[in-house]
Amino acid sequence: MNLLVLGLQWGDEGKGKAIDYLAEGFDLVVRYQGGHNAGHTIYYQDQKMVLHLLPSGIFTPGTLSVIGNGVVVNPLQLVNEIKEVEALGIHLDNLAISHLAPLILPIHQHLDIIFEQSRYVKIGTTRRGIGPAYEDLAGRRAVLMADLLDKDRFYQRVKILNDYYNKIIRLYGGEEIAVESYLDQYLEAAVALRPMITNTSELLNRYSGDGKSILFEGAQGVLLDINHGTYPFVTSSNPTIGGVFTGTGLSHKAMHKIIGISKAYTTRVGEGPFPSELSGDEAEFLRAKGNEYGATTGRPRRVGWLDLVALKYAITINGIDSIFLTKLDVLDEFEEIKAVTAYRNCDTGEETSIFDPYCVALEQAHPVGKSFPGWQTDTGGIQDFKDIPLAAKEYIAFIEEYTGVPVEIVSVGTGRKQTIRK
Ligand code: IMP
Repeated sequence: MNLLVLGLQWGDEGKGKAIDYLAEGFDLVVRYQGGHNAGHTIYYQDQKMVLHLLPSGIFTPGTLSVIGNGVVVNPLQLVNEIKEVEALGIHLDNLAISHLAPLILPIHQHLDIIFEQSRYVKIGTTRRGIGPAYEDLAGRRAVLMADLLDKDRFYQRVKILNDYYNKIIRLYGGEEIAVESYLDQYLEAAVALRPMITNTSELLNRYSGDGKSILFEGAQGVLLDINHGTYPFVTSSNPTIGGVFTGTGLSHKAMHKIIGISKAYTTRVGEGPFPSELSGDEAEFLRAKGNEYGATTGRPRRVGWLDLVALKYAITINGIDSIFLTKLDVLDEFEEIKAVTAYRNCDTGEETSIFDPYCVALEQAHPVGKSFPGWQTDTGGIQDFKDIPLAAKEYIAFIEEYTGVPVEIVSVGTGRKQTIRK
């Protein structure tokens, strides 16, 4: 059986932990979109590790990890991450990287910062060069992983791109970047990565045809999708279901089950509308309890109650089969817990439970909520669903009723064992 694990909110739902927990038994774990803007936190033998590019299955012995063609790759970052994992005693002979994956170059990172000034709004990107790298893919200018393997070809292609963008950088009064300043580093990375670079679409279809099981690891979340998220406050890839197929070269027939990951509340990093957002002491408390600071950038995350209107939308457009509810324990101390069940338009007063991702519509959405009594019990040590406090069970039951999808797994802490199957 092949399984997709997909973030249902604005990223940071705890996908790293979920995938690490679910990866056991899968033959392959595949990343299909995004880049090192992702930060999947995993505890390996009690040691915290944040993976940005490597699939989270890397710690599961016997599993082949694949970086698909839909992922934008900074080769220097990838080599560093491989070294970090190897330092933990894991030998990485089980990684395949698509030869078609677009490269992130130093110029992209520079442009990411410059482009923030050229938009009608600030996005608050991770400044990793993700957007500009995807722009080059769509503009048919991208330099691909396979290009890196031939020194002359790589130089020629990068030079054209670099010269082109230096003109834009000059326009903004920025500092130009010379190809020569990073060429050797990239070529060195190419030597290290060469044995892993391959036609992953062919590999995946072959393995799938042989009946091998595949876990697809989503990065970011549905509401950050370039097409279906809260545009323009989104990332530049498709974390939604379609991204799996364009980002791997596998057909829809390779998808058997989709688990959506959602926190028991909501967080968002960067700018953009967030109807259920909290402020003041309640926000501070939730942020501290949930340790809500970006795994990639360290930025404090914006926090709020669970937004069921948005969650149902995410579930619907991706055909989610069940929910993996994370960080339930973070709500343990609250006297009262709320969830958003509708939006009231602040101009017209009209109420709706339909999620319209258009940012102007969301900016006008005033949250209408339902209140639940808190359970005020430590859930961190619970191993069996029957031991979950009644008030928490009622909260979970309401999520299921509202979304029409079962909560299959509940996470009550960072450890692998703090995961309860319902
Ligand atoms: P970019 O992906 O760096 O272009 O950033 C675009 C938006 O997506 C910003 O609001 C980021 O904070 C957000 N974003 C990108 N990756 C992640 C992630 O892994 N978790 C949460 N937010 C993310």
